[in-house]
Amino acid sequence: MKKFDILALGELNVDLLLNRIAGFPEVGKEIFAKDMTLTLGSSTAIFAANAATLGSAVSFVGMIGRDSFGDVVKSSLQQRGVDISNLIEVDNAATGLTAILNYDNDRANVTYPGAMSLMGVRDIKPEIIRAARHVHVSSVFLQETLHRELLEIVQLIKSCGTTLSMDVQFDPAETWEFDYARILPLVDVFMPNEQELMAITRKSTVDEAVEAILPYANVTVVKMGTRGSLLVTNAGRLPMPAMLNPNVVDAIGAGDSFDAGFISAYVSGKDLETCQWIGNLTGAINTTAAGGTGAFASKQAVQEAAEKYFGQKLAL
Ligand SMILES: Nc1ncnc2c1ncn2[C@@H]1O[C@H](COP(=O)(O)OP(=O)(O)OP(=O)(O)O)[C@@H](O)[C@H]1O
Ligand SMILES: [Mg+2]
Repeated sequence: MKKFDILALGELNVDLLLNRIAGFPEVGKEIFAKDMTLTLGSSTAIFAANAATLGSAVSFVGMIGRDSFGDVVKSSLQQRGVDISNLIEVDNAATGLTAILNYDNDRANVTYPGAMSLMGVRDIKPEIIRAARHVHVSSVFLQETLHRELLEIVQLIKSCGTTLSMDVQFDPAETWEFDYARILPLVDVFMPNEQELMAITRKSTVDEAVEAILPYANVTVVKMGTRGSLLVTNAGRLPMPAMLNPNVVDAIGAGDSFDAGFISAYVSGKDLETCQWIGNLTGAINTTAAGGTGAFASKQAVQEAAEKYFGQKLAL
């Protein structure tokens, strides 16, 4: 028996959201925001929190500073039922932060990556990996050291005998350096969205991008927003339409919630098509409430939303 179903390995930061701002900031001036929220940010944290809500035993390996924002990260993860005993606290960098200036439907973001850019292969202890049945790595371009050492990290994880999933997420530098020919053979489930897949393969259609990774990939599931997802295996390609939500609150974190549903089903031994269906459903449920975790307050709340908005039974 392993201690954890899933070990999430990725970035951790807080989001500082400023709303109802009186105009745009200018150097040398000061303006008011009428609303402010400080919350747990980062896509890997949304994944971990929602997978825990869905019933998986989840632990997290990520780097934070020994500071008060680090305390916010720890208590928020803990509140959501994620184990924090494997978090790495450092003295030489502060916890990462994204300052988000919200203007109607648009946002201006400034990110200080801080501690999360320092985590590398030397920080990841094999015994922690061995305590989990599955490892999910996310946001590879956001974490400078992890990105540089990604192949070694993936090799280390596979040498511990666990299954591995990966969501690359966006590359802020837009260089999209990802050695898919060497990395993907070691990844059991690859989970990019369509833009990310086309960017890392330098192709202009999803079809061409899938062809490019096919010789190297095991299972791939491509997220396609309101068009659902595409499962690619040795047996072929299976497109699955989204369960459309006509009243989207926002789609922040839909991809992470898709991953949380898919991987929770995967570690509980469901077949790939069922995993994809559950991913589509949890991605859709994500859009019924604000932010990436708003619809995932409890497993019961998720099951009720499945029923109420989509007429579906979520059996996990
Ligand atoms: N408006 C929507 N209605 C229903 N389902 C949706 C909607 N938007 C997304 N989904 C579901 O959620 C899944 C993941 O969303 P999306 O394709 O936006 O991922 P992503 O681009 O990785 O998102 P993220 O920005 O969270 O990383 C989709 O494959 C789809 O099944
Ligand atoms: Mg995504």
